[in-house]
Amino acid sequence: MQERILPAHSITGSISLPGDKSISHRYAMIAAIAHGETRIRNFSTGADCHSTLGCLRALGVEVEGSGTEFVIQGRGWNGLSKAAGDLDAGNSGSTIRMLSGMLAAQPFSSRIFGDESLARRPMQRILEPLGQMGAHITARQGKFPPLAIEGTKLRPIDYVLPVPSAQVKTCVLFAGLFAEGETSVTEPVRSRDHTEIALREFGAELRVERQRITLAGRPALAGRELEVPSDLSSAAFFMAAALMIPGSFLVIRGVGLNPTRSALLDFLVGMGARIRVAELARRNGELVGDLEVSHAEMRGGVIEGGLTAALIDEIPVLAVLGAATEEGLTVKDASELRIKETDRIRTVVDNLRRMGVAAEELPDGMVIPGRQKFRAAELESFGDHRIAMAFAVAGLSADGPSVIREAEAASVSFPEFWDRLGRLTASPVP
Ligand code: S3P
Repeated sequence: MQERILPAHSITGSISLPGDKSISHRYAMIAAIAHGETRIRNFSTGADCHSTLGCLRALGVEVEGSGTEFVIQGRGWNGLSKAAGDLDAGNSGSTIRMLSGMLAAQPFSSRIFGDESLARRPMQRILEPLGQMGAHITARQGKFPPLAIEGTKLRPIDYVLPVPSAQVKTCVLFAGLFAEGETSVTEPVRSRDHTEIALREFGAELRVERQRITLAGRPALAGRELEVPSDLSSAAFFMAAALMIPGSFLVIRGVGLNPTRSALLDFLVGMGARIRVAELARRNGELVGDLEVSHAEMRGGVIEGGLTAALIDEIPVLAVLGAATEEGLTVKDASELRIKETDRIRTVVDNLRRMGVAAEELPDGMVIPGRQKFRAAELESFGDHRIAMAFAVAGLSADGPSVIREAEAASVSFPEFWDRLGRLTASPVP
């Protein structure tokens, strides 16, 4: 499927967005091993979170519902059962990495695989700590999906993460839930803490001392009612569009503003963005608020060190925005970008160049000079949801109609994206 993007003269309106992808995965997985029923509202409509629900169903978990509301009948500690076939994680790194922590501790074997993109993503980062816990897992070429997991009794570990990764942290904590004794994970840089918050919501006790999280195995987890905040990483596309296009004023309601995710807001405001946060509240332990975003002249900036990890999912759209700023954008310390759904350094730079925008590729980042104009172009999503959406935003500022190929990739996190974008943009040309 292709999408045609016309230049827009403003982004105006008020929207709410689908539920946060990271939080939806975690609520569903924890609900599956809790006791009793969990009702989840505003569950992500993204294909990734539906891959998680599909895997849970295959493991014998009753999941009912449709749209954005699902009810999961928790099966308790020993309640998961061996799947009849292989588990399909689709495009979802979160599903394969986080669920493997639970699968490694089951009294049965599992095989989990994904699509072509997932089949190229590194799994050593979970194989290493799970191996230390006693897990038996074999991977293609020792490091790629599919994973064949021979479930066994796991022992707790005290693990220092070599890379900042919330997925790996979650994998180890999920495995630790099944081990007897205390499992600890220390992070080099604080990553998103939705797992810690969600586990507490379900009744687990965790200690967090600086960057070290400790969890006692076999906690009593109880099913409950939860509502997922809207996804800040999805909001980022509309925020960038509103900031770039003169005359824009956009309200995004009920967005997740967890401090381990909201570095985006500080970074944008630091560059001159006009963003107001209203109706701030705490829901199920997560901070939620409305965002009001107006067009602003932006200065540009540098993303490096811990900030790179905090903004990792937003870098594609920030790169687009960067080209329209005064001083441009430099991204460093971002080699993790090369092993996302695509090599996002290459795919971003490639599409920018197609639009006549100068961009330099670095081994671990990119340099995008400012004050550049976007030329209308034929753009590729490369099958990557965030690349499809980031370049739709670029197309809104171009000098004519652009095309995004394989635009359906957006459905991985945000199936409603094209529809929402159409409704918010007022195009100057018929
Ligand atoms: C995620 C963590 C990040 C992020 C991904 C979702 C999560 O990945 O890029 O989109 O939900 O924990 P890493 O753990 O690989 O940094």
